[in-house]
Amino acid sequence: MSSEQDLLSSERDVEVEPDEDALPVEELDQETRERRDAALAHVRKLGDPVLRASAVEVERFDDALRTEIERMGELMVDALGIGLAATQVGVLNRVLVYRVHAEDEIAALVNPVIEWSSDELETAEEGCLSLPGVHVEVERPARVRARARDAAGAELVVEAEGLHARVIQHEIDHLDGILILDRISREARREAMRSLREARDGETADTEAPARVVASDASPA
Ligand code: NI
Repeated sequence: MSSEQDLLSSERDVEVEPDEDALPVEELDQETRERRDAALAHVRKLGDPVLRASAVEVERFDDALRTEIERMGELMVDALGIGLAATQVGVLNRVLVYRVHAEDEIAALVNPVIEWSSDELETAEEGCLSLPGVHVEVERPARVRARARDAAGAELVVEAEGLHARVIQHEIDHLDGILILDRISREARREAMRSLREARDGETADTEAPARVVASDASPA
């Protein structure tokens, strides 16, 4: 019965964008939820100063970098996120990973720079693994072109639109110490902080493990 109660008490989740592959949180099986919680415990949350730091350019494309990218990809997938920046796991390298659709391969961008963005803007809801329980409408350029390197140091040019463009911009923001809270109105921020507090209170009420997050996001970045 207790698993049923867990299901009932799970917060109804709102995704960044409807994705048929993503299951609502209450439909996740126990193992998936445990894996998600374990991964989220490695993700730095608001209040950790590293989230406000600027990451530095990667100069060595070595095994350590590839290991770091692999680990970030695993954490992102386990946490049910669609993107993750190195700063979110306490690493000050300009590295991000993302996977917009479940069937895609995990993409990694090293030293990404947005070299063009459209004048056309789009507003959509975003979540963030570092801000459990927070979902806010964020306005961003609808299309971007980013230049970066891959894990081996080869040059990449990525043209993106829709959720793909959004995730790249969200993660590059992280590398500059910028959070979605900085891209919304003061009023929306106040409401977001309230959601964050509620998620935190739920967490301490629910479990003794301090790093565990109960209210969570299905497709945050
Ligand atoms: Ni984020």
